Amino acid sequence: MFMQRIAIKSRDSFYSVEFCSKIRNIELSPNDLIKKIFIIDKNVFKIHSKDLTPIIKDSDYILIESNEENKSLKGIETILEFLINKEVDKSSYLVAIGGGIIQDLVSFTSHIYFRGISWIYIPTTLLAMSDSCIGAKASINFQSYKNQIGAFHAPKQILICTEFLTSLAENEIKSGYGEIIKLHLIKSYEAFQEIKNSIKSEGLSTEKVERWIHQSLIIKKKFVEEDEYDQGIRKILNYGHSFGHALETSNASYISHGLAITWGINLVNFIAFKKSILSEKKFHEIYKFTKEYILNSTNIKLNYKELMLAANRDKKVINKQINLVYLTESAELCITPTNLDDKLFNLVEEFINKY
Ligand SMILES: NC(=O)c1ccc[n+]([C@@H]2O[C@H](COP(=O)([O-])OP(=O)(O)OC[C@H]3O[C@@H](n4cnc5c(N)ncnc54)[C@H](O)[C@@H]3O)[C@@H](O)[C@H]2O)c1
Repeated sequence: MFMQRIAIKSRDSFYSVEFCSKIRNIELSPNDLIKKIFIIDKNVFKIHSKDLTPIIKDSDYILIESNEENKSLKGIETILEFLINKEVDKSSYLVAIGGGIIQDLVSFTSHIYFRGISWIYIPTTLLAMSDSCIGAKASINFQSYKNQIGAFHAPKQILICTEFLTSLAENEIKSGYGEIIKLHLIKSYEAFQEIKNSIKSEGLSTEKVERWIHQSLIIKKKFVEEDEYDQGIRKILNYGHSFGHALETSNASYISHGLAITWGINLVNFIAFKKSILSEKKFHEIYKFTKEYILNSTNIKLNYKELMLAANRDKKVINKQINLVYLTESAELCITPTNLDDKLFNLVEEFINKY
């Protein structure tokens, strides 16, 4: 199915999201006269080098291992060194090819190199295609603090090519669906039911994936255009994130971002149910579905103390309060400042023990 281009309004211009079914058909918008430097996920290049080589042509490129350790000042330094050695100037474009880690690294580097150069993004994970590619956020980790340092720097162009998904691990596909389901829950309970029923009957098929990506970006577009700098309404998109991030930091083994967020959604829905904001029926319906189709093979090895430590250290915590995003019975989402106190900790412990 052919997906229509989406234009995203940013601070001082628009950037576009374009769809293309085959990697070999990818066309970058600035012409050949403009110098381009490619920053590519090492795994992606290894698998797709035959199709990527004609796109890179004789441009310089650097391969990066996508892991949270490299999404750091050390990782930024490696890229900066490469750019300086290649005498990259202010008129050049960086082209990022990879998932959210490569996106964060390249958008942050583009923001600071010569006080800002242009970049293009080709996302290769479902999570990056359906969620992170728009919104202009660039975050890197600092020591053990996740996404603690950041900037806003929108790309000039985003090219989505679902052929990359053919090589993506099953867990990363589920991680992407975690964010897709989150965005559909944010849109409406009917939108959630639609995707739930489709997954139940067809599984996590790639047949419809372009449609879910397109729909997810349309849902997110409204929030990032209205509040690009995350001062108000955009915080709704943090649904599931506070405890999701804490799980990512504290889990004994690696857990993909979208899976951690899905777990965080179930926890915050449980708190909402206990506070009589959401019915037990809806909490259960979302829990049962996500447990069966998204979290079924996720290895959650939780240390309650470390989880709460990580939740306390979250950058969104101000004066021992955290803005939790609750799904309400009327399917509206509400941002509620919540004390990080024993009452909340007891609910978290109850959820962990029961589910
Ligand atoms: N900037 C934002 O707005 C934003 C939003 C959400 C998440 N994030 C960040 O994104 C990161 C997670 O990104 P992600 O989930 O996209 O994955 P990722 O970039 O962490 O990649 C996950 C794994 O998949 C591999 N991979 C990527 N594409 C592949 C492909 N097509 N085929 C085979 N393997 C492939 C990578 O090498 C890596 O091993 C986190 O650091 C998170 O904080 C950023």
